[in-house]
Amino acid sequence: MVKGIIRTASNTNIIFWRGVLLANKEEGPPFATDPVTLETIGRYDFDGQVQSPTFTAHPKFDPDTGEMVCYGYEAGGNGYDASYDIVVYTIDKDGKKTEECWYKAPFCGMIHDCTITKNYLILPLTPIKADAERMKRGGNHFAWDLDEDQWYGIVPRRNGKPEDIVWLRADNGFHGHVAGSYENKQGKIGVDLTIAFDNVFFFFPPENLANTPNTLLQRNKLVSDIYRWVFDPKTPTNTRVQPFKPFGINGEFSRIDDRVLTKRYSHLWQCNIDPTKSYDFAKCGPPAGGLFNMLGRYEWDTGKKDTFWAGPTCTFQEPVFIPKASPSTPSTSFTEGEGYIIVLLNHLGVLRNEIFIFEAQNLAQGPLAVVHLPVKLRLGLHGNFIEQREIDEWAKKRKEGGELGLAQAAKGMLPWQKKMAEGEGLGIAVPVPGKDGMNASIGANGVNGR
Ligand SMILES: [Fe+2]
Repeated sequence: MVKGIIRTASNTNIIFWRGVLLANKEEGPPFATDPVTLETIGRYDFDGQVQSPTFTAHPKFDPDTGEMVCYGYEAGGNGYDASYDIVVYTIDKDGKKTEECWYKAPFCGMIHDCTITKNYLILPLTPIKADAERMKRGGNHFAWDLDEDQWYGIVPRRNGKPEDIVWLRADNGFHGHVAGSYENKQGKIGVDLTIAFDNVFFFFPPENLANTPNTLLQRNKLVSDIYRWVFDPKTPTNTRVQPFKPFGINGEFSRIDDRVLTKRYSHLWQCNIDPTKSYDFAKCGPPAGGLFNMLGRYEWDTGKKDTFWAGPTCTFQEPVFIPKASPSTPSTSFTEGEGYIIVLLNHLGVLRNEIFIFEAQNLAQGPLAVVHLPVKLRLGLHGNFIEQREIDEWAKKRKEGGELGLAQAAKGMLPWQKKMAEGEGLGIAVPVPGKDGMNASIGANGVNGR
């Protein structure tokens, strides 16, 4: 880490937001790129409104209000110092920050994904912990803690105050991604997410020598079912809870029809692991990213399963749901799950990728279309879909002289950078000679100045 420089690789998820593509990794702030040219715009702070050192790779979008609900954890200092602080923001559809509240976690643990209902944000806190003293000794940022609970922080989406957070805890587990969530008529919160009961991030082993996965092969043997939880937001904080029910599958990267987030839903799509299917280890080696050899669709209401096997030399990356109707269709006039699934297929034997497009409600029949890519793509895992029409509309607003004008990169340093610059001086003060003989500028954003 270079002193004062934001070190994030911004490589976890990509989000289209009001005419820019935000590249996110939870350890740092988002970086904006132009969705048409893919040129980097720079660190994005929502026109100065978001100043946290960290920002989730999984913000959630309310389909009824158009709001983005987002957060940063380990957010109290520079993002790398094991602080217990969590900040939660809401940005409305017009780009205005309408909510900001700071909460405390019971420890500095990973909060990779979140979810929303109409009235609440739910933050799954995974017992993979950051520890400042360990880092000072040169140890890993995170370490899996087998003796720690999995926790769920519940905060109100409107007018939250620091004391409002309710932490519910359950037996040790490793959170995967959330599928859907909603409030029932009694005001209880249903949350569905995958959970493995050991360390998925084998590269962050426990500090002691506990018997837990520390290789990719061991990790790939973990079972990760999807669990439904039903939380009562009125429960006193620190209460122990149990999952309502598991689905009985093994997978990750659940996706739903995003139009039904915050609402009762039935369909979810996942990358699945079926170790009973043959896998050509000699040709492919260990499947990096996980042995996601199946694509599945599951219905909570009926228990129905609809799956497609990728074959002995292939795995899938995250599926994405594309609605058949236009996103501008009123939310009352669509049928959940009516659409397509787009997914990247990894050909592990020949290092090449294809794009498969399925009828969303009939995976078993195989893809409707296959796009043969001439290259191998990196293992990105996460993906999202945006209509060209929407990109075009925003491009008009975002052009020079357009309704909104060019998207702006953050102008100043983040608060922790400022503090460091004023206190001890930054490590970025030494000019770097440019190719043309001029000094290349390195901006406070950690990217070449523009
Ligand atoms: Fe993720």
